[in-house]
Amino acid sequence: MSEPKEVFSSRLGVILAVAGSAVGLGNFLRFPGLAAQYGGGAFMIAYFISLLVLGIPIGWAEWTMGRKGGLAGFHSSPGIFHAIVKTPLGKYLGLLGFIIPVVVYMYYVYIEAWCLGYALNAATGTFSQPGVNYGAFFNSFTGAGSNGVALHFGLQDVGIFVLLVYACNFYIIYKGLSKGIEFVCKWGMPVLILIALIILGRVLTLGTPDPLKPDQNVLNGLGYMWNPRGIATGLKNPQLWLAAAGQIFFSLSVGFGAIITYASYLRKKDDLVLSGLTATAANEFCEVGLGGLITVPAAFVFLGAAGIIGQGTFGLGFNVLPFVFSKMPFGDFFATIFYLLLFLAAITSSLSMLQPGIAFFEEGLGLKRKAAMLSLVLLTGLGTLVVWFFSKDLKALDTIDFWVGTVGIFVQGMILVMVYAWYIGIDQAWQETHEGSAMRIPDIYKFILRFVSPVFLLVVFVMFIAANVLGWNFSLAAAEFKPTSYVTDLVGPNPSAVARGTFLFILAMVSMIGYLVHLSGKNWNKQIGGNTS
Ligand code: ALA
Repeated sequence: MSEPKEVFSSRLGVILAVAGSAVGLGNFLRFPGLAAQYGGGAFMIAYFISLLVLGIPIGWAEWTMGRKGGLAGFHSSPGIFHAIVKTPLGKYLGLLGFIIPVVVYMYYVYIEAWCLGYALNAATGTFSQPGVNYGAFFNSFTGAGSNGVALHFGLQDVGIFVLLVYACNFYIIYKGLSKGIEFVCKWGMPVLILIALIILGRVLTLGTPDPLKPDQNVLNGLGYMWNPRGIATGLKNPQLWLAAAGQIFFSLSVGFGAIITYASYLRKKDDLVLSGLTATAANEFCEVGLGGLITVPAAFVFLGAAGIIGQGTFGLGFNVLPFVFSKMPFGDFFATIFYLLLFLAAITSSLSMLQPGIAFFEEGLGLKRKAAMLSLVLLTGLGTLVVWFFSKDLKALDTIDFWVGTVGIFVQGMILVMVYAWYIGIDQAWQETHEGSAMRIPDIYKFILRFVSPVFLLVVFVMFIAANVLGWNFSLAAAEFKPTSYVTDLVGPNPSAVARGTFLFILAMVSMIGYLVHLSGKNWNKQIGGNTS
């Protein structure tokens, strides 16, 4: 393979691109919802342990393997694994690194369109109209109320915004790595942080807006989010650990297939230890320092705990918050910039989900850039259409998010750490990680990468399947299994046609992409007169 055609123009550029991939809806919606749900401080203990033994080390492994594959001339996850794992099956270990970003993009971009739509509706005063029904608006705008209702194109429908975000994403991708993704992230990330700081200033100065409800004040809102509640019992709850580990993967974009592709554009002497750490630090600042101080405290001040409990990520973000903003002075302005913030965070993440697909179509199937883009538009567009039409209860979206966006990421995280620490071998891999690096990672991380991360991940994954698929009650003495709706929707007495159809769609995608990877393997072997078949 020839020298990489595309590179990031600067070290700051690659750090901001990876940070842009990491900072997304997960930081400003998913994280605050989970932290509040699992008791603040207790969740944070499990969260930081997961960051230290999963997020940071597996992130370094992903950066290292990306650069290694890139130096061999590959930029897609299947290509990178093909270059590293020298057996005919090697490239299939990278299959999920193509499937996850492409399939997650299909629904992620749909939520990105909500953010843009909500920003425009906030700017035009929709949410501050007297008597507006926020739940009804959410149901018709997103289609959560019934199938097909969201396929309309007025200002208060999602349609036009879906088309707009598709156009933006693909235009930026078309501009290329440096002039497109890097440029957008270099401008977008500082703007995003600035907007978040302005909103944070607003939230922290809310005081006690309703003197008749003195308990609903900012300090209590921050306390509700952060005070440790029931640490001892909380940490014994396996669901809390699963939520914390899952959030670390989702939020850092580790195991997504995005970092491995971005890192493949690094040069041999680029410092990936510090770059990885800096991107992680930027994500944590946005997540814990900004995301964690905005949504939940703001909602608490106007609604108290009762308004937050049981809302879930989307309920909090698109149902509760428009109401909360409408109660603030200059609420329309703050709602507009909040949803713009979400849109910016989302687009820098969705771009990172497209680049792996473009790279694969180009290097695996030999397509030119325009043809690669068109193929990806058609492929992802089909999936977005499924999510958009079969929107009742967001069933299609939820089915894809669970099986690909959650289960898939755990599996890919495990593959990454095993190939790094055991196939390449920890000593060799360690040396490659430190190539060009100004800082040495403490040696304890060798042990963590070989033993702690895989075992921790395996335990978390097995428990995740036991709890969220088989519905185990976590009792050893009187074990009971009650399959969750993710199973009963597919094979129960009252299956959901949409869940079944979506699951079949996922299987069709996996089979088709598997076949494309098989074809690519043939091409790669021809090009390098390869030793694999
Ligand atoms: N890492 C991205 C997020 O947090 C996907 O939304």
